[in-house]
Amino acid sequence: MLQHKGVTPIEQAQNKDDSSTATGNKIKKNKKQYAMKNYVIESLPDYFKQYKKSIKNPKKFWDKIADENFVWYQRWEKVVNYDMHEAKIEWFINAKLNITKNCIDRHLAQRGNKTAIIWEPNDPNEAAQHITYQDLYDRVGKMSNVLRAQGIEKGDRVTIYLPMIPELAVAMLACARIGAVHSVVFAGFSASAVASRINDSGSKVVITSDGSYRGNKTLDLKSIVDDALTKATGVGKVLVVKHTNNEVKIQEGRDLWLQPLLDDAPIENIPTIMDAEDPLYILYTSGSTGKPKGMLHTCAGYMVYIGYTFKNVFNYKENDIYWCTADIGWVTGHSYILYGPLINGATTVIFEGVPTYPEPDRFWSVIEKHKVTQFYTAPTAIRSLAKETTEWVEKHDLSSLKVIGSVGEPINDEAWHWYNDHVGKKKCPIVDTWWQTETGGIMISPLPFVTPTKPTYATLPIPGIQPVLMDEKRNEITGNQVDGNLCIRFPWPGIARTIWGDHQRYKDTYFSAFPGKYFTGDGALRDEVGYYRITGRVDDVIIVSGHNLGTAPIEDSINEHPAVAESAIVGYPHDIKGNALYGFVILKDVGESRDRDNLRKEINQLIADQIGPIAKLDKIQFVAGLPKTRSGKIMRRILRKIAEGDFNNFGDTTTLLDPDVVEAIKNERIG
Ligand code: WT7
Repeated sequence: MLQHKGVTPIEQAQNKDDSSTATGNKIKKNKKQYAMKNYVIESLPDYFKQYKKSIKNPKKFWDKIADENFVWYQRWEKVVNYDMHEAKIEWFINAKLNITKNCIDRHLAQRGNKTAIIWEPNDPNEAAQHITYQDLYDRVGKMSNVLRAQGIEKGDRVTIYLPMIPELAVAMLACARIGAVHSVVFAGFSASAVASRINDSGSKVVITSDGSYRGNKTLDLKSIVDDALTKATGVGKVLVVKHTNNEVKIQEGRDLWLQPLLDDAPIENIPTIMDAEDPLYILYTSGSTGKPKGMLHTCAGYMVYIGYTFKNVFNYKENDIYWCTADIGWVTGHSYILYGPLINGATTVIFEGVPTYPEPDRFWSVIEKHKVTQFYTAPTAIRSLAKETTEWVEKHDLSSLKVIGSVGEPINDEAWHWYNDHVGKKKCPIVDTWWQTETGGIMISPLPFVTPTKPTYATLPIPGIQPVLMDEKRNEITGNQVDGNLCIRFPWPGIARTIWGDHQRYKDTYFSAFPGKYFTGDGALRDEVGYYRITGRVDDVIIVSGHNLGTAPIEDSINEHPAVAESAIVGYPHDIKGNALYGFVILKDVGESRDRDNLRKEINQLIADQIGPIAKLDKIQFVAGLPKTRSGKIMRRILRKIAEGDFNNFGDTTTLLDPDVVEAIKNERIG
């Protein structure tokens, strides 16, 4: 058997007796712990009761949940330490655990033959895979041993750039098992984006595949990685999954096919004992500069928060089949395709394809095929499917559905009703879940069969979450029927602990605008009964088709074009994507004689190369100047109004340096 160095007596003891928390510590054996029933809210009065408890005594509240529902090597000494001014937050101090024991090992006795993952391939004619908890244990064990044999140790970073195939889940879990920090990069990002994420995280290893299928398109992921590695340093090994059988270049000494290594690896793998606050993963999100912002999540708090929210928000019951359509490359996939469902011993569907392939009824056909009970998707997908004839939905038996969910951006009234009428058939509660990469898990959402829903409202906070609305003067706005900047008052276990390698930036971004509170970057209103509705970003982030895009990195790319002097981008409302991007570009003299349409193509190509096709601009207007304040700040508010075609509500323009600039831009707006 392959054993890594430094197997401690705790590990050995633990490995012999999986069902206990065998450290001689205070933890009692809790027979109920696999039932995961101890914290399910079943009624509105119960919700209010739990919520009150969670606010009055958050330590006691989370202590009980953590104690009764998870397996630990060693109990915590203290529930929480925090300083919201310094942005220092720790949960379950000194506890020892491994999240994969909670996701896999502890289920084996009761659920070994239960399906953990249903993998639905891109091609509907290819058979789906049903991976049981036992299979998952075997596959993760082998992968863990392969990673260890490649020299990966606790704390090392591993970049994962894979399509939505089972190996993606297996690779993430294997990292978590050996204590390596996974950094999953969405397989739609370009080589430059991959390179900057490899460099920022300091990854030693990249796991990728020969290619990916998305509808009728294929993408050559390995050559994107090859390209990225000409710009990134420090990667010693590239492990390649064979998936599309696309021909790839194998660089001797660096690249290895994964399958032969897995074939030779033993199954048994002793998990690494992790401290509660050891890093679990890095996930990059958009920021206000071009530098990637790696949100760091740690082991214990994340596990507890995701386990709790999954169970409650989706009202998961033992035989349910749960499907979240997000990509695992985003936080939704991390928390609610992988970790949340597996912590709860659930069956989770992983779908490789796209909603419109081979026809626009693929979602509905997969729901029917696998008898999906909980379906979780994004408003942009709902809007694009709602524009097709309803025959596509009606063709399919969706009667297995119990709960349907939405995430990623505000869901507009029309999409909410279409979803409710045609997918939920007016009998499935819609959980409109508001949260962020930074929050780790769902923060504000109805609980199905508990919270009465209201179209476009995310409704009430999850127990433990204290939303507050703040005005520009940093005063808290109390009472109902008000709106303001959405902040959170007290830490919760799932919050990201830092930005990888840059704690100051973490503090500045989230904890300085409203001192003592976490600032979300979103605006929200609170209605007459205290329900929250998220109104959208109040900062320079634009959400396009559910993808969070910072203006700065896109402007940086545009400005690299030799003919461009300066640029500003804003979002404007779009029927399907929610928002689309509108760019205002000032040309240098050398650009003046160039064909405008060619320039537009080149600019979009640059963006696609540097960030990815998701960040391309729908409209590009060449302008002579941009509206700026006297201090030189671009007044995006005005550009946003122009992009929307609203010339009457520019707001306060007294700080505008040159009003003529605005007139010129208005006259040449692209409609
Ligand atoms: C931003 C976070 C949450 C996982 C996927 C996106 C927006 C998210 C909702 C919702 C209104 C929402 C917010 C948030 N958002 N969910 N239900 N209603 N807006 O994670 O990429 O970190 O984006 O998405 O603006 O701040 P993310």
